[in-house]
Amino acid sequence: MNDIAKEIHMFSNLKEMADFTIGKWAAIATAAMEDNGLFSAALSGGKTPALFYEKLSAQRSLPWGKTHIFMVDERFVPYESVENNYHMLNRLLLRHVPIPPKNVHPILTLESLPQGSAARYEKDILSFCKSVRSALPLFDLILLGIGEDGHTASLFPDTPALNETQHLAVCVTLPDSIAPERITITFPVINNARNIFFLAAGENKAKVIKDIIENKDSILPAARVAPQNGKLIFILDKGAGSLLTKIGK
Ligand code: 6PG
Repeated sequence: MNDIAKEIHMFSNLKEMADFTIGKWAAIATAAMEDNGLFSAALSGGKTPALFYEKLSAQRSLPWGKTHIFMVDERFVPYESVENNYHMLNRLLLRHVPIPPKNVHPILTLESLPQGSAARYEKDILSFCKSVRSALPLFDLILLGIGEDGHTASLFPDTPALNETQHLAVCVTLPDSIAPERITITFPVINNARNIFFLAAGENKAKVIKDIIENKDSILPAARVAPQNGKLIFILDKGAGSLLTKIGK
């Protein structure tokens, strides 16, 4: 990833990270509205973005009526499960903002198999692309987290999904794990985004953040996030950025 232009911003805490992210979200949404008359964002689950989602839900002046929200990934569990990302996003953000229900694009887990959910979600993404006349999904913003093992979305080390180049969304079975299967968007979608945010907080992420930002040979999945024509912005707290030797653009 090293030769990809990236912005690195470091803050004292999750609140400052959230406030900064809101400002960036608003700027991107405004530009998208001017360019295309709509704003599309794909959002991740996890703990790190929770405060941002909560604070974003209070931002009434954003163009919610023309905003489309997609999911970066989902665990193949019922909506009611606390592990369901859509459930979390609904609780923290979506049910508090005037976004038209048809503009919310969850990865539904109603199918009998996760492969069916992945196929249905891919169709949803494609029909949205048709409506915005773009061959490949061109999200204005994709918000990603990062795991200590360097995964992002549900793109985990040593899984076939890392090498997917055709499908926009695939099913992921975690190796020898009792964790639920997942559905995730793939690198062709991620790396086609106009803006990608990486949010990371906590000293436990410092090593992986240093590796993906400063090790040009990193083989971690998150190091393969390299927007072709987009911006890559790291939004970190002091803990996650504590091992970096250089901060800034
Ligand atoms: C998810 C995310 C996953 C997450 C990272 C970081 O569904 O959980 O897609 O990639 O972003 O695991 O999670 P935390 O923010 O909780 O550290």
